[in-house]
Amino acid sequence: MGVLSGKEVVLGVTGGIAAYKACEIVRELRKESANVRVILTASGAQFITPLSLQTLSKNPVVMDLFNLISESEIGHISLAQRANLVMIAPATANIIGKIRSGIADDMLSTVVMATNAPVLLAPAMNAQMYASAAVRENLSVLRERGFHFVEPDEGELACGTVGPGRLADGGKIMEMARIVLSEKPLAGRKVVVSAGPTAEHLDPVRFLSNRASGKMGFAMARTACRFGASVTLVSGPTSLPDPPFLRTVRVRTAEEMFTAVTRAAEDADAVVMCAAVADFRAKGAAPRKIKKEGFDYRVELAPTVDILESLGKNKGSRALVGFAAETDDLARNAVEKMRRKNLDAIVANDVSRTDIGFESDNNEVRIFFPDGEVRDLPLCTKDGIAVGVWLALDGKLFRR
Ligand code: PMT
Repeated sequence: MGVLSGKEVVLGVTGGIAAYKACEIVRELRKESANVRVILTASGAQFITPLSLQTLSKNPVVMDLFNLISESEIGHISLAQRANLVMIAPATANIIGKIRSGIADDMLSTVVMATNAPVLLAPAMNAQMYASAAVRENLSVLRERGFHFVEPDEGELACGTVGPGRLADGGKIMEMARIVLSEKPLAGRKVVVSAGPTAEHLDPVRFLSNRASGKMGFAMARTACRFGASVTLVSGPTSLPDPPFLRTVRVRTAEEMFTAVTRAAEDADAVVMCAAVADFRAKGAAPRKIKKEGFDYRVELAPTVDILESLGKNKGSRALVGFAAETDDLARNAVEKMRRKNLDAIVANDVSRTDIGFESDNNEVRIFFPDGEVRDLPLCTKDGIAVGVWLALDGKLFRR
């Protein structure tokens, strides 16, 4: 169950060309089982119809502060009080200015003033307006007051200008909503997470690698970010896009992953190695494509650097956590790796199963600790497993 599930979300839609994108946000919120109440401003209604938003949200769209029927059914104070989150996407310069100045002259500005819920604004406007002194100052005052923001994207705007002002991608806005609503057990922590495979080149065309889509490691990184940590994700080659609101370092080889992880680990509280680092590389990769003609099909291999083992030799106060991909004798092999690499915990998954482990959206894991404690996390999504792993690590490693 995701963090938005069962939450009351008020979505304010104001008057900009990006108002149509609110439909997608409503759908995403509904997909995550949030109850969505849309407030459409008068200018928002110039760009999108209440019927679209009502159909998608499955709730009446509220527009008029002084409408006797809607006010008696869901009054503005009740909307404000019941909300777990108020989002405004797109948020125009006008609504931002009104909120900053304490003007409450329509349903949306009144609800924002009357709510105790966190308020998340996704500004969208012309680039010059966004750069204007008034908007800059309003945003900075609202930030100080604890409002949350998703900065607009850069690009060509509907008015023809190019620059920052385009409503942020819906995925980014949704992720910020999850961040805002998540508990913060890792606040103040710095963590490094590795993900994906590494690729060890035989020549510029061929490489040795491991199976790994990166999904488990990306879920660990996203979840740590939602839990308030400052996160560096070091990822081998995957098709997954960089997750928003955290630092992603892309690498290819085990050696590059070693350099990036050890550098980021210097001031980290925890390193979690979820990557399936290739164990072998070709001794002396060919600088040019190996021709099939005359090739004897022998490749001499050399071991890659063991990143965790190296970090385990000079641990300091950092927590070191490994993942173990096992096909048999899971507990014995995982515990042996934990001891050999001097780890504080190891998360083991059975990669012989096709419903979990490599590439799957789901996983099921056993977490082993050096004191003999074992925690079992039953089959669920990789995001759910990541929540369980971080909570287990937090309770066991960070509070001692
Ligand atoms: O990416 P997905 O498709 O979502 O799949 C997720 C996963 C199955 C890859 C993931 O859950 C997982 O099990 N990751 C660990 C894979 C692995 O390499 O396991 P291992 O048992 O070979 O290694 C043990 C630990 O040592 C791991 O933390 C690994 O990152 C680390 N290691 C291994 C080799 C090496 N040279 N350096 C290392 O640091």
